[in-house]
Amino acid sequence: MASFEEEDTPLAAAAAAAVYVRRGLKGSFSKPKKTRILTIANQKGGVGKTTTAVNVAAAMGLAGLNVLVIDLDPQGNASTAFNVDHWEDASGTFDVLLDGETIADMMSPAPGFESLWVLPATLDLAGADIEMITTVAETERPFLLKNALEVFLADHEMDYVFVDCPPSLGMLTINALAAVSEVLIPIQCEFYALEGVQQLLRTIEFAKERLNPDLDVSTVLLTMFNSSTNLSQSVVGEVRGYFGDKVLDTVIPRSTYVAEAPSFGQSVMTYDPGSSGAVAYLAAAREIAERK
Ligand SMILES: Nc1ncnc2c1ncn2[C@@H]1O[C@H](COP(=O)(O)OP(=O)(O)OP(=O)(O)O)[C@@H](O)[C@H]1O
Ligand SMILES: [Mg+2]
Repeated sequence: MASFEEEDTPLAAAAAAAVYVRRGLKGSFSKPKKTRILTIANQKGGVGKTTTAVNVAAAMGLAGLNVLVIDLDPQGNASTAFNVDHWEDASGTFDVLLDGETIADMMSPAPGFESLWVLPATLDLAGADIEMITTVAETERPFLLKNALEVFLADHEMDYVFVDCPPSLGMLTINALAAVSEVLIPIQCEFYALEGVQQLLRTIEFAKERLNPDLDVSTVLLTMFNSSTNLSQSVVGEVRGYFGDKVLDTVIPRSTYVAEAPSFGQSVMTYDPGSSGAVAYLAAAREIAERK
């Protein structure tokens, strides 16, 4: 376990943060009236989609809410971060989308959590687009995840479902957009932060018009903020100017513990709850919970 001391955080502030996290987790996050289903999408790679899905879900789970994380990325990074088997013979999202298996049968409880489950992504998910084209009628292809989720939610009480998307706008992401009512867009605080966002928004608009009238970009989260650069600061201003109040007040700082946690099969919420990254993800999760 890492100490509370972090290069960019004075010890006293970090210790205070750890207390805040513990108190925060004991306090109740408000339970949504009905299941909230969020897709975490951005076709740009490495912007913090998985880190956001994992840590916001972990915060909700630690607060006692029922949470399902659907790993829709063949890389399986969210499954790795929750230490859920997605290697060789494992089953998961592919089997749900293309082999008629149910989410209930394919999901696994995340070790260390009492109310958090993961539908893992196996490598064969990389071939899902092609498999869909050859085996599923064109009109049904976008709705494979939506149909499976409807069956699952009919007899499982979930507070939150998070869908972690791959860095593309292919049929897997389309399935995610057809299945949810909210999109959460993580945006990395770096040069060209908004590059590609127009294309993402056009895809979301397409999905809303053709597949899912309930779809809405509810949340934008700024990630990997570096307080020592003016660039990060100017990106925050640019993104707030563009997306207005969809942008959470909380900004996620760059933190080594956030990057390190998955290699221990953990979220940063459990790996180092006192770190600046964990505190920020908890605050982001609370904002999400309180916004609806
Ligand atoms: N706040 C942070 N501080 C430090 N490193 C971070 C932070 N957030 C994410 N990272 C690291 O940046 C990399 C990319 O993050 P992540 O995997 O969450 O992005 P992604 O959008 O899911 O990527 P992909 O498009 O490949 O799915 C990872 O190595 C992750 O550990
Ligand atoms: Mg990812």
